[in-house]
Amino acid sequence: MKRPGTIAEVALEMIRDGQVVGLGSGRAARSFVEALGARVGQGLKICGVPTSRETAELASRCGVPLTTLDEVNAIDVTFDGADEVDPQLDLIKGWGGALVREKIVAAASKTLVILVGPEKLVDRLGTRGMLPVEVVPFGRTLCRRKISELGFASQPRAAGDALFVTDNGNHILDCQVMALTNPRALEAQLLSIPGVVGTGLFLGMADTVLVQEEGQVDVRHRLAQHK
Ligand code: A5P
Repeated sequence: MKRPGTIAEVALEMIRDGQVVGLGSGRAARSFVEALGARVGQGLKICGVPTSRETAELASRCGVPLTTLDEVNAIDVTFDGADEVDPQLDLIKGWGGALVREKIVAAASKTLVILVGPEKLVDRLGTRGMLPVEVVPFGRTLCRRKISELGFASQPRAAGDALFVTDNGNHILDCQVMALTNPRALEAQLLSIPGVVGTGLFLGMADTVLVQEEGQVDVRHRLAQHK
């Protein structure tokens, strides 16, 4: 279904007064949080659950009231970006490094809405070449070796001269991948490695994807059989 406007505008139409709203991380999520802040300024009453410290700071600056997962029973709807979206609406996320909190917030959400440009659409997950995996620093070398035994080279993500540290105090291994034949099997194999905290594979989680096209938004819903 095509709708006129921007993804932030279409996303805002999906929010009701009194809802708890999950706030993703990355550029698309940032634009959404800024638009949400403006709507809160006009009287919309919601509470946000941020997926990163960066998003929490932005939301506070924009006037979006915040809460935590400990204080709410559930999140009504979460809006986040993605790095890859396949035709079943399975995702790769985490190029921005917030994958573990994003997955926790997504799992706590009744509805997950993904905001992307057309460059993120792929026929098969892995096509854009990188799958981030968050690992405990103590186990980083073991995780790297085990991931290489699965057939994937990986690089610890850097931040300047140091290693990138996630909001959870962990490191990220960026795995070089190609179009994946069985993302579910890979997810299970990665999660079985001691020290792996989470992967960027978000399988069966997104309900709706909003794709920004010129002057309009393509609204895609997950089909029941792909849940
Ligand atoms: C953050 O960890 C990521 O999962 C982002 O949601 C994802 O990388 C998309 O970011 P952009 O909207 O900046 O492309």
